[in-house]
Amino acid sequence: MVDAIKKLFGYESTDPYVYLVSTKSGDKINGQIAVDVIGFTFLEKWPRVAIFIGKDKFTHDLIMESGVFALNLLSIKQMELVRTFGMRSGKNVNKFENVGHFTAKTGSPIIKNCVGYADFKVMEKLDLGDHTMFYGLAVDSRLMAGELPLRISYFKKNAPKEWLAELEKTTRESRKKSEKFFAEYAEIKGLV
Ligand SMILES: Cc1cc2nc3c(=O)[nH]c(=O)nc-3n(C[C@H](O)[C@H](O)[C@H](O)COP(=O)(O)O)c2cc1C
Repeated sequence: MVDAIKKLFGYESTDPYVYLVSTKSGDKINGQIAVDVIGFTFLEKWPRVAIFIGKDKFTHDLIMESGVFALNLLSIKQMELVRTFGMRSGKNVNKFENVGHFTAKTGSPIIKNCVGYADFKVMEKLDLGDHTMFYGLAVDSRLMAGELPLRISYFKKNAPKEWLAELEKTTRESRKKSEKFFAEYAEIKGLV
């Protein structure tokens, strides 16, 4: 079934941008990498976006608390940030400590020299079992550096081999946690 699903929904043919989702709650700031991002710009005055954040992520807890997040579009010169923000959790470290940033309208941190960012207030949240879909309304946005946006295929082609091995390992661990969350959810919902 997985092979058919991947073919049917173009999993292998899409090449998403790599974002850093940042947020702030109280005096805590954090961020993580995300590629599952869907923009919805039908009403030009009210741009919205859906992001899919795993329930095991620290970023998830902070967005739940504060109801705000920002999307930083990374450039091809910022691959190192994929490692810092996408392969370790902010539960025990401040990932922003040595990373130049400033503060967006909502209070979310913005990475200096990213291609651009948009700042969001959460309109709706949807429990998807292992992830929460946060649906945000853009309250601000800005294009900054003139660099090329980082896409997942570029990262996979150009990142050092050790990073890709680390990514495989952290993804496996994450999938295990997600499976637990989803199994509980499916049982409560009577899906299994
Ligand atoms: C290329 C890449 C794409 C990712 N996409 C997502 C995503 O769309 N949603 C998600 O919840 N996690 C995604 N992750 C995983 C998180 O970024 C990662 O687990 C992170 O360490 C969580 O940090 P936190 O616990 O500090 O929030 C991705 C990681 C990488 C490297």
